[in-house]
Amino acid sequence: MSATPRVPVPPTLQAPLPMTLPRLAEKKRLGEPIVMVTAYDYPSAQVVEAAGVDMVLVGDSGAMTVLGYPSTVPVTTDEMLMLAGAVRRGLHTPLMVGDLPFGSYEASNEQAIATAQRFIKEVGCDAVKLERGGTSVERARAIVESGIPVMGHVGLTPQTATALGGYRAQGRTAGRALSVARDAIALQEAGCFSIVFEAIPADVTDVLMERLEIPVIGIGAGPGADGQVLVFHDLLGIYDGHAPRFAKHYADLRAEMVAGVAEYAAEVRSRAFPAPEHAYSIDDEELLAFVEALG
Ligand code: KIV
Repeated sequence: MSATPRVPVPPTLQAPLPMTLPRLAEKKRLGEPIVMVTAYDYPSAQVVEAAGVDMVLVGDSGAMTVLGYPSTVPVTTDEMLMLAGAVRRGLHTPLMVGDLPFGSYEASNEQAIATAQRFIKEVGCDAVKLERGGTSVERARAIVESGIPVMGHVGLTPQTATALGGYRAQGRTAGRALSVARDAIALQEAGCFSIVFEAIPADVTDVLMERLEIPVIGIGAGPGADGQVLVFHDLLGIYDGHAPRFAKHYADLRAEMVAGVAEYAAEVRSRAFPAPEHAYSIDDEELLAFVEALG
């Protein structure tokens, strides 16, 4: 066999390496911030892929941002799988996590494993996420033992916001911070590869970081976490509903989208659109023949 000399590919032309659990753990070890964002469909997946994020969550926040439900509670597993399937088709490099919706994993370990398997088998998620400590710790352990990576989620857990007293920061007293700590440590011990901290004081995060070996991804949990996650529609300013204080807007796409559609509507009404360059032509003889044939 003749050895063909290989021309080295410049680093900028190399395809990015797909994110894996060991690479994620390595990022934590090296102190490299981890970037996570939600996506819910093919175009948003293509956008976050092109932006080079590390992890993508097909979040049940999609219940509100793309399906128009008043909360995350009503969304079904089938609806989440449809969103996740669309994301999968547009996503190649980041680690893709599917959010188990409310009512799809709490009843038993068997239910939790069966739902998690659907996210892996039917749509190709790399991992799943579930909310809360308590009984969710056992569910997380069961899913991990079935061979599926699990991400935990503590602090403000929107699926059970009513029981938490509403959409409000958690862990703001010593007792409540202790309960967040117990949940987080129990989820780590159950084998979760990572955990989301939502809406907890930055100082509580900082204290807990010393106890957690797995990557902590914060949303409204201060700068001390290993990474940050934001909801796609919040960060791009697409969603018209309530945005929490931690949702920084990096763009105001909704205003641009409304302006674009309004300009289109105005041009249709004034007959400025379509212009000649948007129309197809036919040769004069062909047109004449057509009109004659039509009688
Ligand atoms: O569903 C979601 O978007 C989430 C993030 C806020 C972590 O759970």
